[in-house]
Amino acid sequence: MYDRTIQFLPHELGPPWERVRVEVDGELVSWMQTFTVGHRLRGVTLDCAGVVGVHTDDAHQLRGHMRFMLETVLQRAESRGVPLSTLYGGVPDVYHRWAYATVMPEFNFTISTRRAEALPLRHRIRGAEPADRPAIARLYNRETSGISGMRVREPERWLGPRQGLYFGRLDAWMQVALDDHGQIVGYCIGDEVDHDAQQLDIVDAQASSSGVAGSLIRAMADEAVRRRMGNLVFHVYPASRVGRYLRNLDVTARSERPIGRSQMVRLGLPDVVLQALGPHARMRAEILGSERPSRLVIDTELGSGELPLGGDLPPHRVRLPSAQLAEILFGYRSAEELRDIHGLEISAGDAELLDVLFPPIDAYCYWPDRY
Ligand SMILES: CC(C)(COP(=O)(O)OP(=O)(O)OC[C@H]1O[C@@H](n2cnc3c(N)ncnc32)[C@H](O)[C@@H]1OP(=O)(O)O)[C@@H](O)C(=O)NCCC(=O)NCCS
Repeated sequence: MYDRTIQFLPHELGPPWERVRVEVDGELVSWMQTFTVGHRLRGVTLDCAGVVGVHTDDAHQLRGHMRFMLETVLQRAESRGVPLSTLYGGVPDVYHRWAYATVMPEFNFTISTRRAEALPLRHRIRGAEPADRPAIARLYNRETSGISGMRVREPERWLGPRQGLYFGRLDAWMQVALDDHGQIVGYCIGDEVDHDAQQLDIVDAQASSSGVAGSLIRAMADEAVRRRMGNLVFHVYPASRVGRYLRNLDVTARSERPIGRSQMVRLGLPDVVLQALGPHARMRAEILGSERPSRLVIDTELGSGELPLGGDLPPHRVRLPSAQLAEILFGYRSAEELRDIHGLEISAGDAELLDVLFPPIDAYCYWPDRY
């Protein structure tokens, strides 16, 4: 038998980041990074263990080292009451083993540089400085607080974007829009790319008004001209101010609905998540009148939780896999779709009840917040 150990070490980015190392007989075999961060879900904020840069050395793969590492990280987070975990599934069909589910669509808008150049530039734009980060984080939080999936950027702790698309390969840059008083009223985050790239990718853009959104898009067109790029691609949430502005222009809008890859979530502590969503469920349940259960108990393989529904009927119980509960809570698929298309074994009545409590929505997480 070999001697396998796991260590949690300080990270160059400081707390809450940690480095994780697994050694076998003193040799490094697997490593990753983890940190705790808040994510929004239907009006509440829940702590989430981020799983980042999972790797097993080539010579040691397929011996269960990554399983050991990930499960230890998850147990440790859950023992501290962290109910969710998120990761970016770069390798498809690996993480469903631990009940991670894809719960967010991908969105992007392509506009030609020429078309975007015609927009009016009504704000001063400049490169962002480290001192701007708290103001940028606050602006981001104001604009995104109502959207499920969004990460909370703590103004005093947010380190700025470390990346855009393509993990670890590209740096990100930021520009800010200022009003007449020099206050930050918008920002854009873009990918630092090599010279032969044909398009400029914008991975986050927030504006406090549609006028600011227009100025930002125009400023990005000027940036694309400098870099000799024919198109701009905005990876933004369609209902954001920049997304809404773009939708009114001559754009190609794309959305994708990945499965088993991309941004994934695991509900490790369903009881904590359901308890936090109790007030939301109680309010939604009013639609059903008094002919509804007093409580809904949901059993999953990772634990049970319950929602107060406030009705006159006895408590009701539903059983479903944690991954499907994640899809329903984040609004990626309705319970009816999971039942009719994916064969989830629940009754039509139970699916209808879950869909009243948690109607489908589009959750989203901007690229610089994915790891
Ligand atoms: C993916 C990776 C971390 C797996 O590490 P590992 O130590 O070999 O994994 P384990 O032996 O613990 O395997 C755990 C489970 O994942 C499965 N698995 C491992 N690699 C897989 C792959 N590439 N595709 C699909 N399943 C995979 C194993 O079959 C095993 O499943 P089982 O326990 O149900 O039989 C490793 O292959 C790696 O470092 N790859 C390159 C970097 C990378 O792609 N990281 C992931 C970024 S999202």
